[in-house]
Amino acid sequence: VPASGLGTRLGTADPKALVALAGRPMVLRAVDGLLGSGVVDGVVVTAPPGRLAVLRGLLPPGGVVVVVDGGVDRVESVHAALRHVDEASVILVHDAARCLCPAAVVRAVVEKVRTGHDAVVPAIGVADTLKRVGPDGHVDATVDRTGLAAVQTPQGFSPEVLRAAHARAVADRLAGRGVPATDDAGLVEAIGGAVVTVPGDPRAMKITTPLDLAMAEALVTAGPVPR
Ligand code: CTP
Ligand code: MG
Repeated sequence: VPASGLGTRLGTADPKALVALAGRPMVLRAVDGLLGSGVVDGVVVTAPPGRLAVLRGLLPPGGVVVVVDGGVDRVESVHAALRHVDEASVILVHDAARCLCPAAVVRAVVEKVRTGHDAVVPAIGVADTLKRVGPDGHVDATVDRTGLAAVQTPQGFSPEVLRAAHARAVADRLAGRGVPATDDAGLVEAIGGAVVTVPGDPRAMKITTPLDLAMAEALVTAGPVPR
């Protein structure tokens, strides 16, 4: 669980993962969601800068959850966490900021990896009409939505493939050829790996802005709502 971001777009004083959503810090909700899925045996969380001790104090003792320092960006944070994952048949990477992801999505991702897929992402259709817009604000084209999807986390991987993808990403960076990747599946694609999807869920939304946080709070307080 990469949770080392600052939450600049959220704009809170505390780093985003530590911001409470309906009274409970997002990172704790994210970890609870994983452990509550019944298919996750251990969690490694990367702490926001300077918050290692704070986060360790919040999480339950007993070794199921390990807290380590993250890195300067998401790739580095995931890489740091991977160093603390030893034996695993499946590795999930899950944004702390997607803390309301339903357990069914977690289980679907794990099951798909177990059926022999190296990289699995939850995906949902795009509802808005998409246009390519130039820097001057002029519409260049309407993008055909067919075949487009928004992808979420947790993303699931066979450990060898995820480690290979990260090793390559880090090596490319050191060589000055790093490409910015906003998800781990993208790193697998970059090494030629196949990525497949399972149905995502709107509740696995990434909380990025104050509006997202307000909507997530409304979801939690509303209780079960239809999709
Ligand atoms: N993340 C991380 N390490 C970083 C940057 C981001 O572990 N150096 C994590 C965030 O904590 C978050 C996830 O990656 O759980 C997705 O990132 P994002 O939503 O962009 O969160 P922030 O980087 O915190 O937000 P912002 O970009 O607005 O500052
Ligand atoms: Mg960010």
